[in-house]
Amino acid sequence: MNTPLPQTTIEPQPDTLNKVAETIDLIQPEVKTSELDKIVVRGGRELKGDIRISGAKNAVLKHMCAALLTEEAVTFTNVPTGLRDVRFLGQVLSHLGMNVALSSDGKAILRAQEIKTHIAPYDLVRKMRASVLVLGPLLARHGEAHVSLPGGCSIGGRPIDLHLRGLEAMGAEIEIDSGYIKAKAPTGGLKGAIIDFPFVSVGATDQLLMTATLAKGETILRNAAREPEIVDQGNALIKMGAKIEGLGTSEIRIQGVDKLHGTTHAVVADRIETGTYLCGLGLTGGSLRLKNTHIDLMPSLIAPLMRAGLDIQQEGDDIIASRRHALVRGTDIMTEPHPGFPTDMQAQFMAMMCLCEGASMITETIFENRFMHVPELNRMGANISVQGQSAIVRGVKKLTGAEVMATDLRASVALVLAGMVAEGETVVNRIYHLERGYENIVEKLSGVGADIRKA
Ligand code: EPZ
Repeated sequence: MNTPLPQTTIEPQPDTLNKVAETIDLIQPEVKTSELDKIVVRGGRELKGDIRISGAKNAVLKHMCAALLTEEAVTFTNVPTGLRDVRFLGQVLSHLGMNVALSSDGKAILRAQEIKTHIAPYDLVRKMRASVLVLGPLLARHGEAHVSLPGGCSIGGRPIDLHLRGLEAMGAEIEIDSGYIKAKAPTGGLKGAIIDFPFVSVGATDQLLMTATLAKGETILRNAAREPEIVDQGNALIKMGAKIEGLGTSEIRIQGVDKLHGTTHAVVADRIETGTYLCGLGLTGGSLRLKNTHIDLMPSLIAPLMRAGLDIQQEGDDIIASRRHALVRGTDIMTEPHPGFPTDMQAQFMAMMCLCEGASMITETIFENRFMHVPELNRMGANISVQGQSAIVRGVKKLTGAEVMATDLRASVALVLAGMVAEGETVVNRIYHLERGYENIVEKLSGVGADIRKA
């Protein structure tokens, strides 16, 4: 795992907390990105220089929900506080009664001293589907939760049946009523259960891992997700007093405790952001130093990137990488739960394969509709054909800039990467998708030589 940031564990007393909260900005009422914002990128530049990798979006969203489990303050550092998803989830949590203080230097101080309401309304949850992860912690802490059903998104239906069945196994009574999940814990509180997942689900593992920390007795999660973000969540929970074994394996055991307490935790580096910039390098050539991240977080990503022709190595807390030849070599990948190739890297890898020597077969096994970047890449001159869950990418000599539409977070960034090598100008519309998961992407890429700006 990447060496944790040097940190001192502070247990802020209420008055200290309030003082600190006064000095750092609370969440903004609304994120200031209009639907019309776009990114303009011109191709032809190599990437050269340093990029600091932010804390992982898919870890910090769970950490924020876990802060509901205690009345004490929980402090997170290395937080990508600029992300729309972080700020939207902050709105949901503060609606529930949590004091959410996010500072521009990457610190989040969260304190749910009391739960003001157990209702997470549709108009907040719809903006941030991971808000459904407040369900279990609210049940465990407060005994009741009404959370709007999150609905699907562009990459798939995203059902949450495994979340709900797991909570029912722990004794919760759950009904779906007018678009809301209405859940109630039994009078004696939730109890431990043995939960066998029929297939790996990151969200369901997150949800039940958090909830089980306060349930009575032992919970065993079988066929649990093994992602580094799950391990990071479990490590933070252990620092809050939870009793958890088996993190990073497919069987996680949790012994419930009566209470959890505050702590300070540095969020693990974002392996998907890391991989995204490595794919950009595969397209443009050059060399990058990606700071504060670790190859151990992404074993199944590093291997195909090196097969494709990148030189990648760890140097202290940084990854240094360069492209060996003028073109990357066609390399096949198939997405799988960790430690397999991450589905969140599929679009970016495909963008890199557009200019490969030879061809690449890319198979998506996690989501049913995660090839929306294909028509947009083909409009830029790529040669990609989709057959069911697989896409065949045949390398072309060049891409040409075009006006393209972002559809989901990872498809959007794939278009930005393609724009960095396309001849002429590429305009990526609807970049609010991008700002959900990539902190300061324009600054980070222009800082290493890309010709990119917001418009
Ligand atoms: C998490 O989503 C990530 N999001 C996703 O990242 C990531 O793609 C996904 O895990 C897989 O790694 C966050 O962590 C916030 P799942 P999640 O439960 O938890 C089906 C990004 O780009 N399923 O592992 O929703 C589901 O439909 C985002 O950063 C059920 O059928 O993913 C999917 O096909 C996108 N029932 C598959 O399982 C359930 O109850 C895996 O979903 C739960 C899931």
